[in-house]
Amino acid sequence: MRTPNGSPIRREAYRPLAYGVETVDLDFVLEAQATLVTNRMRCVRNPDSDAGPIVLLGDGLTLVSVRIDGAEPAPGQLRETGSGLEIDVNADSVVVEIVTRIDPSANLTLSGLYRSRGGYYTQCEAEGFRRITYFPDRPDVMARYTVRLEADAALCPVLLSNGNLLETGSLPNGRHFARWEDPFPKPSYLFALVAADLKALERRVTTMSGREVLLQVWVEARDLDRVDHAMESLIHSMRWDEETFGLELDLDRFMIVAVSDFNMGAMENKGLNIFNTKYVLANPQSGTDVDYENVESVVAHEYFHNWTGNRVTCRDWFQLTLKEGLTVFRDQQFSADMLARASDSPAAAASARAVTRIANVRVLRSAQFPEDAGPMAHPIRPDSYQEINNFYTATVYEKGSEVIRMLHTLLGKEGFRNGMDLYFSYHDGQAVTCDDFVGCMAEANGADLDLFMRWYSQAGTPRLKAEGVFDAADGSYTLTLSQRTPPTPGQADKLPLHIPVAVGLIGADGKDLPLQLEGEARAGDSTRILELKEASKSWRFTGLAAEPVPSILRGFSAPVILEVDENDARLAFRMAHDSDPFNRWDAAQRYMERVILALAADAAAGRQLEVPQAFGHAFRALLVNESLDPAFLAEILALPAETYLLECMPQADPAPLRAALMHLMRELGHAMQADFLDRYLDLEVDGDYRYHPADAGKRALRNLCLRYLTAWGGATAIDLAQKQFEHAGNMTERYGALAALVQSDAPARFDALAAFHEQYKDDALVLDKWFLLQASAWRWSEAAPATLEQVRALMDNPAFSLSNPNKVYSLLGGYFRGNAAEFHRPDGAGYAFWVEQVRALNKSNPQVASRMARALEGWRKFTPEIQARIRAVFETLAKDEGLSPDVAEIVGKALA
Ligand code: TRP
Ligand code: ZN
Repeated sequence: MRTPNGSPIRREAYRPLAYGVETVDLDFVLEAQATLVTNRMRCVRNPDSDAGPIVLLGDGLTLVSVRIDGAEPAPGQLRETGSGLEIDVNADSVVVEIVTRIDPSANLTLSGLYRSRGGYYTQCEAEGFRRITYFPDRPDVMARYTVRLEADAALCPVLLSNGNLLETGSLPNGRHFARWEDPFPKPSYLFALVAADLKALERRVTTMSGREVLLQVWVEARDLDRVDHAMESLIHSMRWDEETFGLELDLDRFMIVAVSDFNMGAMENKGLNIFNTKYVLANPQSGTDVDYENVESVVAHEYFHNWTGNRVTCRDWFQLTLKEGLTVFRDQQFSADMLARASDSPAAAASARAVTRIANVRVLRSAQFPEDAGPMAHPIRPDSYQEINNFYTATVYEKGSEVIRMLHTLLGKEGFRNGMDLYFSYHDGQAVTCDDFVGCMAEANGADLDLFMRWYSQAGTPRLKAEGVFDAADGSYTLTLSQRTPPTPGQADKLPLHIPVAVGLIGADGKDLPLQLEGEARAGDSTRILELKEASKSWRFTGLAAEPVPSILRGFSAPVILEVDENDARLAFRMAHDSDPFNRWDAAQRYMERVILALAADAAAGRQLEVPQAFGHAFRALLVNESLDPAFLAEILALPAETYLLECMPQADPAPLRAALMHLMRELGHAMQADFLDRYLDLEVDGDYRYHPADAGKRALRNLCLRYLTAWGGATAIDLAQKQFEHAGNMTERYGALAALVQSDAPARFDALAAFHEQYKDDALVLDKWFLLQASAWRWSEAAPATLEQVRALMDNPAFSLSNPNKVYSLLGGYFRGNAAEFHRPDGAGYAFWVEQVRALNKSNPQVASRMARALEGWRKFTPEIQARIRAVFETLAKDEGLSPDVAEIVGKALA
């Protein structure tokens, strides 16, 4: 059925198929345990390929019948292979009709056709279509689809598929049907159907060319009061893509469907996007500002795929970043523009954009950098995989987006747009490669991007070193940039990459200096992009009266780790003055990181912990700075992610790191209680909740102040949090208060948790937050209940279910991925629990199991004692019979 373990699929092995498919007519008779699928496809010979049979893939199907051009197959003409069927034909074009039977109710993998809360849903990316019918299930086979669906009219009043609705009608025995047609050829992974009891919010809008289109967001009736924001987000996304890239919706109807059981965030099926409810539903009482932001960006992401992914798709799955990196870049730009648009001055807009950029970089540092430093390290275009589902990674998505962003930086906004226009003019309707995309960028700009292509083939996070020398005699400053990428599994030797490095020089007064590069006529810019293409290169700036303070990698112009020798005073200086808001934030993060790592070393050595006074001063200066945008300030004052800090430790050790983080928060909360309190009181947002960046920024900073205060734990602080919890007018405030209480040692947290549970026990998405908070909570004293025992107890809560991914991600993910100090407890009980849960999930949902298994893949970064314990549990798992390819690949690579 599947590739056996240990025999990876290689990118180099790509060959076009002998036969493709031109049209597919699908007929679904939907029944809970026995759904009948009739697939009539016209298979046509591919002139660019060698001769061979029709090759069809199938997984877990019961074959009912096969007819070839209307006739029974001749003896020997049809073969069952390990992975599907092969059919020998002589003709250049034949009609193959295959009937299969599947059991959607028994399908817990959430791949293929499955059931959720009484409805039928599909998920076909990456290889789910072969779980529905026999098909050449790979993205380079693009066909036109028609679909007929038939189901019980009472249980499934709504019948949806891709494209345009042709016909509906009723049938005997309380059944009904619908017929759909998708006018655009598409790969099988973009096929979708939904048959369920849903209601839609509808809007009609006019596109840039004046066509009226119907937009629908389908949800369960009880959720109809939570869909306005998703609809608004969709309309904003449509406008943005028209204005930014000239890209218009190409269908008469565009649908979003929300489903409770879903492995990932959402899926861009042509004209019928299917979403995890988490990324559709939000109203003021159920969703936080962060949920609103996430809904907006995921709706945008899936909508943008219509062009970058669907109209132009991937030739093979190694090219995944072609659509994902590019589409993440597009959704990040959209989010930044949406924030900037709501600002009232250019400076405020720059700060708002930086907030989006900071959020992107936080994800990159906390999820992608660890991946790139571990056994799963891979280039954004991998060379091999055992299970493609394991490669929907932070590297392919987030680093992939950074690579596209570097092209945007190098070519400029217009140059990038010209490259995009050329890409669509050449490749609309095709399945292409990353080389095709970069080729268009190069051609449209007359640029040489050959060296740049190394970003697609080389794994690992480059280290960029910056050293400056000031020569007082001639007023010059020589900046030397050098790069080195550490080895990754299977890639020992690394080559220099093409890295755009945005650089500024700051004068003693805190203002940017005009930049004059030696030998260049042009001068005056305050930020320059230096292009490093070799292992090391120097640039000489002239005309400087005194030694400047360099500000390197402004805006995070490349996905690298910057190594620069800056003392505390310089970091404090840039924290106060850097004109680049991203770098200003980064200076604060670097300073905090330095302080935390020193505290952690002290904690590990049993020394007294003390927060350096100078850091306190720098921190306080920002806390009381009322000219800074609250959203930006909330980012500056927030601690770096624990997962990122673990990467930064010479030998990762979660317990002393946690002690350091707790100490820092407590001390700052205590020392600056009056300032935190002042700001807290000032930042109150009056009036009804609205999702607006200005209000959201205030709420974020206010909740953060509350966190520092409750970490300190004084009676006023706890009282404040309790009052906010009780009187909150929206979920952002209620959840903020609950989080502040749970992240404290106050006994009041137990009552708050109980009250929250009582209020939301029937609200799945809100309960996910409740599970997550408890699983990821810090333990502020030895007296606090052990987290592992609490997590176990929470698994017995009636609302918890191992077959619902959101629940698993909240409770188990919150513990495995969000609570290092508790998960890595020295008695190894956390790891034993991990083995148990990975085993259980492996049987029902390998994709989710693999995600949980990955929580320990970075085990080699830990202290030798911790390493020994984790190695042992990986070895235990490795001996299991029946590991899914998904989990087997992770375990195998972790031990390799
Ligand atoms: N293409 C989807 C996205 O990024 C990702 C996705 C959704 C997915 N569901 C999946 C990938 C299931 C693998 C398996 O928008
Ligand atoms: Zn995507």
